[in-house]
Amino acid sequence: MTRVLVLNGPNLGQLGKREPAIYGHVTYAQLAEHLIGTGARLGLEVEVRQTDAEHEMIRWLHEAAEEKTAVVINPAGWTHYSIAIADAVVQVEKIIEVHISNVHAREDFRRHSVVSPYVTGVIVGLGLGGYDLALTHFAAQG
Ligand code: DQA
Repeated sequence: MTRVLVLNGPNLGQLGKREPAIYGHVTYAQLAEHLIGTGARLGLEVEVRQTDAEHEMIRWLHEAAEEKTAVVINPAGWTHYSIAIADAVVQVEKIIEVHISNVHAREDFRRHSVVSPYVTGVIVGLGLGGYDLALTHFAAQG
């Protein structure tokens, strides 16, 4: 069974409470449960993680690179400035960057991603459904 790690960066643990007009009312726990269900339907073994600690995210990316595990990542605020996260992302063979909100329709600083040049693809602005689309892509890849 294909394994996929869904990695979420800082403040995404606050989903449901955090700026609901932008990120919606679904909580992080509900999202995690939903994605495990999506994975089961698609024949994927999905593990969902969230951290506010950059070193922990980097360790998870190293683990995925080592084990050749596919990754769906929402790097959240790190997207826009973290060279350390970009340096870890580049080592992962199959990795899709997801943003819940349309970062191009918000503040200027959100328009630039230091991570995007190193990922397989980017899904932006489709809400939580962006994670499902990324999983669907990996399921189709086999
Ligand atoms: C985000 C967009 C980022 O700009 C922001 O810092 C986040 C969430 C999104 O999913 O829309 O934390 O990655």
